[in-house]
Amino acid sequence: MSKVTVVGAGNVGATVANVLAHKDIVNEVVLIDLKGDFAKGKALDSWQQAPIDYYSTKLKGTDNYEDTANSDIVVITAGIPRKPGMSRDDLISTNAKIVTSVTKSILKHSKDPIIIVVSNPLDVMTFAAFKAAGLPSTKVFGMAGILDTARYRAFLATELNVSPKEIQAVLMGGHGDTMVPLPRYTTVAGIPVTELIEDDALNAIVERTKKGGGELVKLMGTSAWYAPGAAAAQMVESIVRDENRIFPCCALLNGEYGIKDLYLGVPVKLGKNGIEEIIELKLNDAEKTLLADSASHVKAVKEVFEGMNV
Ligand code: NAI
Ligand code: 2OP
Repeated sequence: MSKVTVVGAGNVGATVANVLAHKDIVNEVVLIDLKGDFAKGKALDSWQQAPIDYYSTKLKGTDNYEDTANSDIVVITAGIPRKPGMSRDDLISTNAKIVTSVTKSILKHSKDPIIIVVSNPLDVMTFAAFKAAGLPSTKVFGMAGILDTARYRAFLATELNVSPKEIQAVLMGGHGDTMVPLPRYTTVAGIPVTELIEDDALNAIVERTKKGGGELVKLMGTSAWYAPGAAAAQMVESIVRDENRIFPCCALLNGEYGIKDLYLGVPVKLGKNGIEEIIELKLNDAEKTLLADSASHVKAVKEVFEGMNV
């Protein structure tokens, strides 16, 4: 049985811990935050839900990294979220320092955990954690694609009036407005989506997906947490159960898709070792161009990070 640490007990982190506890697949979830009492409160509240929802996963809130010792998996959600008018990239200077310092603190107490980054700007924060951790890139990756694909699938389910369970899709690229939903790899109960929906409606859904995070920030004044938390927990589940599920995740590319030294969203197989395989799709020219645009946007943010000397 595994031990999972979630860094940051805010909206997303507390949701990851709560969803994981409901899955009842790990022994213990440690929720760590600068605000120790806040983390303790969230963990205690989730633990008091256990007799109602029947799970045995223990939850502990803390501000002491010694409590995270020997974690198998660490989910990093620490940082500030977007406010209306901010892009994810606006968060870079604050969150880069936070992600780097929490990664170093984690590594003092856990030798070689798998690290899943959630903090934004996601692709570059995942790179920051990779640099700070000094672990193989198969063990350091980020969550965004499951969330972005879920938004795309949810919009399609509403449009087609079908269960979201029927919709399978792939989405690639950075976690930002340049992300690349892929209609050619989208099916509804095995039927290509293009057979069921007009081009205009599909294009509108693709565009809404790209701005899906901003839509929620506008509605709530801060960014989303239910779907993001569930998405990170789903990644943990695939690892803990060694399921080898295929998800779009933010992974370090080393020549795949003609891209090098850049963390970017691509389909990967997730199992007990973390990223077991990066899957290379045979993209057409238009898809390749969109992916290259997204990669150049992420590269520009990465250069800002590298110039900061965190
Ligand atoms: P939040 O403000 O509710 O929670 C963040 C928590 O991090 C706070 O409790 C804060 O005290 C804690 N924190 C800050 N510095 C820390 C440190 N050095 N050590 C430990 N804890 C620290 O924010 P929320 O909504 O949970 O979002 C967290 C991050 O996740 C943001 O950067 C947000 O943009 C990002 N996000 C990413 C998504 C994705 O798809 N990758 C989706 C949704 C949010
Ligand atoms: C989201 O997509 C802001 O990254 C966050 O909801």
